[in-house]
Amino acid sequence: YLLGYDIGSSSIKATLLDCDTGKCLAAVTSPKQEMEIVAPVAGWAEQRPERWWQEVINATQLLKSSYGFDTSLVAGIGITYQMHGLVLIDKDGKVLRPAIIWCDSRAVDFGNQAFADMGEEFCLGNLLNSPGNFTASKLKWVKENEPELHARIHKIQLPGDYIAFKMTGELQTTVSGLSEGVLWNFRRQAVAQELLDYYGISADLLPDVVETFAVQALLTPEAAQELGLTAGTPISYRAGDQPNNAFSLNVLNAGEIAATAGTSGVVYGINETMAADPRSRVNAFVHVNSTPQRPKNGVMLCVNGTGILNSWLRRLVGDVSYEDMNQLGAQAPVGAEDLIFLPFGNGAERVLENRPTTAELRGLSFNTHGRNHVLRAAQEGIVSALNYVMDIMRETGVQVRKVRAGNANMFLSPLFREAFVNSGNLELELYNTDAAQGAARGAGIGAGVYASAAEAFNGLERILTVEPQPLLQEQY
Ligand code: XUL
Repeated sequence: YLLGYDIGSSSIKATLLDCDTGKCLAAVTSPKQEMEIVAPVAGWAEQRPERWWQEVINATQLLKSSYGFDTSLVAGIGITYQMHGLVLIDKDGKVLRPAIIWCDSRAVDFGNQAFADMGEEFCLGNLLNSPGNFTASKLKWVKENEPELHARIHKIQLPGDYIAFKMTGELQTTVSGLSEGVLWNFRRQAVAQELLDYYGISADLLPDVVETFAVQALLTPEAAQELGLTAGTPISYRAGDQPNNAFSLNVLNAGEIAATAGTSGVVYGINETMAADPRSRVNAFVHVNSTPQRPKNGVMLCVNGTGILNSWLRRLVGDVSYEDMNQLGAQAPVGAEDLIFLPFGNGAERVLENRPTTAELRGLSFNTHGRNHVLRAAQEGIVSALNYVMDIMRETGVQVRKVRAGNANMFLSPLFREAFVNSGNLELELYNTDAAQGAARGAGIGAGVYASAAEAFNGLERILTVEPQPLLQEQY
């Protein structure tokens, strides 16, 4: 067996995979109600790491009760996690304060100042990112605002590192993890000492670095007891949720792209060069399979207003299912007779350089347009936004042709898929997988159960391939 955990912001998911067939045996989520995100000040976002751990324990128990398995046969544990969060650990291994999580924006000003002072050329040429609101900037905020607490930090951890620490007692991270914290100099392939120096933060606070796919450490007897697993089980994979989502879809090489279109939409491609977007609309991570000899960077772009527009419309049009909405929208012609829906109704969009945005319905004619047009225009608008960000990706040198996605959210809509492949000249593959399943496959590689990624993805189920058609391409 292989065990994968997804440490999300709203819940913890756990998946049990059969090593031999590569198929999912059981998948559970805990808790049922979303975990709370606390905002003591507007713009802040905190969660207690101890709660994540408690839900990891609960999820493991759920998994065991939904599918009885011999825990001594678990060959490896993989962890994927909400990225960029800051967990502070003291000398005794205690958590010093609630985690400052990814969507907490208290550190924005520090990041912007660092970008201005260190210069665009240095930041984009070496860190491939603006320090922005990422982990290093959050740590700077703690240093400036909670100096006594800062003095007690032994090591920092990302959320997934913390769960691995609870399992193994080892304080570790990965190179990919450092890159997600903007603590990595891609050009020198070393810790971003320049940014640490600028922020006045000691490199001693960084944990040891382990390989993404490797036996990173073993489950301790205490953790095994708490989880109901077997001591000595290797923790053999960890990755942030976006690199892991790409990995889950077997996106490992230039030319392959992973996409999601849930509440917000993400495209993630692989670049083997060091190009950054001069307008800083892109996030770059060291990808899971990067090596010093052959660096591979994950290039990520996010559109905040994707599925959220569709769910907003659903509330608006009343008692209609998503399937019905797709069918109604499909009754309007391609292009919705010049009705245009810009989906940016969720505030500032980084891809639009943080300009505050609104959604817009343009070209509306009462004589021509009805509900079907609006429903279609919304889906076409979301597709256009994704095309826009894929063009930015292309500008940074990423080949964009083959896109893989999970069989979920907007990709469940035939209309959306048709618009996506034909307007973008893309080939789309849909798979039956999720993040925790990907983490379990990663654990299989790390533990040596699988000799290669190809072997690990043997059991990955492809549901559908959609290709562009010349006639439709022309219409779109
Ligand atoms: C990635 C990112 C989000 C969080 C949420 O850059 O910020 O995907 O990891 O889980």
